[in-house]
Amino acid sequence: MDRERTLVLIKPDAVERNLVGPIIKHFEKNGIFVRAIKMTKLSIDKAKSLYAEHEGKPFYSDLLKYITSGPIVAVIIEGSDSVKRVRSLIGNTNPEEAEDGTIRRLYAISKQKNSVHASDSPNSAAKELDCIFNTRLAV
Ligand code: CMP
Repeated sequence: MDRERTLVLIKPDAVERNLVGPIIKHFEKNGIFVRAIKMTKLSIDKAKSLYAEHEGKPFYSDLLKYITSGPIVAVIIEGSDSVKRVRSLIGNTNPEEAEDGTIRRLYAISKQKNSVHASDSPNSAAKELDCIFNTRLAV
């Protein structure tokens, strides 16, 4: 689909280190089109909804604490095959295992403070975009 949408979150560790510009630039210089951006701080309820699939995992409560610890920048990406293309540009969850040149390899600190999140399928993208941007109502 030409106008497939996905969600990227620039996480608190990256916002705190002034990496919003470099991360967005990384997407744009790789042909990724930014459709909308907002800075926000997630409530615990939004964080639980976003990360529902991780409930019960050992890192879940730390993940909620971390993602609600400071501002994030939420980005709607739109374009052909954007879910796959964005996932490939961000790299592996663990920055030590991420390929050279990926965003996490370049900027992430750890598995938790891994600088960015991106939806892993068109189905998750629809749910996550609605959670953060109320896309059923707008955008
Ligand atoms: P993200 O792509 O946002 O999706 C779920 C998040 O959980 C992931 O990035 C990491 O930030 C975090 N995560 C996944 N696995 C671990 C782990 N083993 N330890 C700590 N955090 C993790």
